[in-house]
Amino acid sequence: MAMSTQKINAAKGALRYLKDGMVVGLGSGTTAREFIFLLSERIKQGLDIEAVTTSLDSRFIAKSLGIKIVELDQVERIDLAVDGADLATKTALLKGGGGALTREKIVGYGAKTFLVIIDESKLRPKLSGRLVVEVVPFAYAFALKQLKDYSKDASVRMSSEKLGPTITDNGNFLIDVPMEIKDPEKIEHEINSIPGVVENGIFTKFSKIIVGLDNGFKEL
Ligand code: 5RP
Repeated sequence: MAMSTQKINAAKGALRYLKDGMVVGLGSGTTAREFIFLLSERIKQGLDIEAVTTSLDSRFIAKSLGIKIVELDQVERIDLAVDGADLATKTALLKGGGGALTREKIVGYGAKTFLVIIDESKLRPKLSGRLVVEVVPFAYAFALKQLKDYSKDASVRMSSEKLGPTITDNGNFLIDVPMEIKDPEKIEHEINSIPGVVENGIFTKFSKIIVGLDNGFKEL
């Protein structure tokens, strides 16, 4: 069956955690979009929540669907965050394919409950793929040199719709580092200690992974 069915089923699995009065963190990407859409349907049926967003993309979508959006400094807590992932093992994720990793980590790690919603293709025995690192533009060459120690193929992500580098919602550059991550927690902290690095796409703290299946979902 289509991968999009699995994405919708994973998003449906996360809907069960919603309660009136919650502040909900909205992730970014095609799977998170399915959740945002289903959430807007629940709101039409009477659910009362406020949302913080992790990217301009999810903000635009949530706004167009009439979801009440608040800024992070207007809330005292985030009750529930729901976001996708590029790859997942049972204990760690790789995120940042859409370049929203920094806000995603702020919102996900800051939430009381952080649900990760994925289709079956994302679930892997090993965390091996593209590690995404957000860096301040001033430091990019210096950071790239150090990231080449992890992979000689590390490179600054270029934009496909404009000339030059991809610029994140925070005004920074992205460096993609294809590699296998054997000790996710160690590498997550190690990469963040490189001067100029804002955040990286290894996520080691989350509450649950909800895997969308062709008929329903399972929780890990
Ligand atoms: C964006 C992300 C996304 O969560 C990740 O790329 C998954 O996206 P999709 O659901 O479209 O596969 O980390 O920065």
